[in-house]
Amino acid sequence: MDHIEWGSLPFGYQKTDYNVRSYFREGEWGKLEISSSEFVSVHMAATGLHYGQQAFEGLKAYMGKDGKVRLFRWEENAKRMQDSANGIMMAVPPSELFKEAVFNAVRLNKDYIPPYGTGASLYIRPLLFGSGARVGVKPADEYLFLVFVSPVGPYFKEGFNPVSIMVSREYDRAAPKGTGKYKVGGNYAASLKIGEIAHHEGFASVLFLDANEKKYIDEAGPANFFAIKGNSYITPLSESILPSITNKSLMTLAEDMGLKVERRKIAIEELSEFDEVGACGTAAVISPIRRIADVENGTEWNYCLDGKAGEKSSQLYHRLIDIQYGDAEDKFGWTTVVDL
Ligand code: PLP
Ligand code: COI
Repeated sequence: MDHIEWGSLPFGYQKTDYNVRSYFREGEWGKLEISSSEFVSVHMAATGLHYGQQAFEGLKAYMGKDGKVRLFRWEENAKRMQDSANGIMMAVPPSELFKEAVFNAVRLNKDYIPPYGTGASLYIRPLLFGSGARVGVKPADEYLFLVFVSPVGPYFKEGFNPVSIMVSREYDRAAPKGTGKYKVGGNYAASLKIGEIAHHEGFASVLFLDANEKKYIDEAGPANFFAIKGNSYITPLSESILPSITNKSLMTLAEDMGLKVERRKIAIEELSEFDEVGACGTAAVISPIRRIADVENGTEWNYCLDGKAGEKSSQLYHRLIDIQYGDAEDKFGWTTVVDL
């Protein structure tokens, strides 16, 4: 293993030693296999390649000050992968298989878990796709479930520093009754073009609106959106966004801090009434937003006028990461220690 500069790791792929795999064949999941190859051999007619039968997950392992390695709410990721699998007619990996795969992938690559205090963590990427051959549009009869890991730093280069984002009016990531609530690759494919336009224009990410009316806020690129208004934590209710585990946790923490939690439709005009806004997710953690530009409508909203994250966003951020790294009491039972 080459020396890794933990403190300056980007959010990206870094080769590790092993990944784990299980095939679904003839109606059952096979024994978990350990592989040291970064490649998979795939049939050219696999449904994962042609018809988008593919889903993934993202969670992290955190090294604590006490030397213990914790996973954050892995059961929620297992459940969401099962929902995604059901949503696009794939074989469903049972939670025990998901757990065995994730825990083993962490154990087998323990040298790659970033040390406490570096701000980095071990990103875990479970992947599921149709590996069976089909030419007609039908679900496959074979699937591959694979878990690899990669040590990562912050998703946005700004880290916890406020970012600028751009409203997308020309592109939707998901249809109202489509696959937006599943973590399937097609949603990300639909977001690539506008994502690149936004980056080119100097924005960190994109704010998607509801595809039907373009009136309500959906989500912020690969992260959910939240706002603070007075004593309320407000986040969109929409059937086309990914149910974020980070957001779900922040809602609990917000309530615990005495904030009122509102999960409802958020009209874009409401942006002028918010005190703080942010994006949240496993990769993004909390990214405070300092500017939202609706370029086509010639409108923009500015926050964090002193250049810093808002007070409530900062409190939420610290409460969350303190639980993840084991620095605060895990009073909601969200973390599981991995025996290395
Ligand atoms: N929304 C999208 C589209 C995402 O890709 C992610 C990342 O997983 C999230 C939201 C945040 O979800 P979570 O907090 O479960 O990581
Ligand atoms: C995550 O937060 O886990 C994500 O899914 C972000 C991403 C697609 C890189």
